[in-house]
Amino acid sequence: MKKINSSNLPQHIAIIMDGNGRWAQRHTIGRIRGHKKGAQAVRATVRACLEIGIKYLTLFAFSMENWNRPGEEVQALMSLLEEYLDKEKDKLHKQGIKLTSIGELDLLETRVKDKIRRAKELTKSNTKMTLNIALSYGGRDEIIHAVKNIIQDSKEKKIDINKQTFSSYLYTDNIPDPDLLIRTGGEYRISNFLLWQIAYTELYFTKVLWPDFTKEQLIKAIDSYQRRERRFGMTGEQIKVNKII
Ligand code: IPE
Ligand code: IPE
Ligand code: MG
Repeated sequence: MKKINSSNLPQHIAIIMDGNGRWAQRHTIGRIRGHKKGAQAVRATVRACLEIGIKYLTLFAFSMENWNRPGEEVQALMSLLEEYLDKEKDKLHKQGIKLTSIGELDLLETRVKDKIRRAKELTKSNTKMTLNIALSYGGRDEIIHAVKNIIQDSKEKKIDINKQTFSSYLYTDNIPDPDLLIRTGGEYRISNFLLWQIAYTELYFTKVLWPDFTKEQLIKAIDSYQRRERRFGMTGEQIKVNKII
């Protein structure tokens, strides 16, 4: 296993968990069973992030566009989410994990929505790690939602619109931008995920299908992150001088 430098960990890792369907196809089983296996990879990844000391983990579980999938698949994904919450809620709480979510939760069935609300309520004071689930989430939808709310609020008070105030209107208010974005499944695209927040995020793409993603894969991604120089528009020399200071 590769060694990771604990003084240069990404504070926030976001993951596009892609490839469940292709994993199922390779094993000649149905897509739903691929999603089931994917849920196990979620459990392992949450555990690994906690062990490594990652402070924020955002998982893309269901996109706005995923509502267009066949009804049975959407239903199965929602059932898996419910099962995850039923089984993991208390464990997450015991481990000091705070559960949050981003996305248009109003589109979910009341029962699922209530389970999410209860899990959030239970874990809201935890500080060890934040597990943020992107559910019924679309980056463009999030931006439009923010703009609408800004317009609404500006009827009552003057709002100085800058990068900071705008960010505070996004679902990710209070969550720092991701340092590292991982996409499994071999596609090189963002699929409407965190469009605003990934302006300076380091991107890592792997062919590994989500159900096969392990702690070792995660460490590989973090190792890749740690070998990079994040310049934020400055020169490499400036970054080195800043590091010494
Ligand atoms: C990711 O796996 C899970 C969700 C998008 C909900 P996919 O279901 O997209 O798997 P592929 O891309 O078809 O292999
Ligand atoms: C992105 O995967 C969404 C999630 C992982 C939840 P998709 O499988 O939906 O993305 P596309 O359709 O290949 O872009
Ligand atoms: Mg996919």
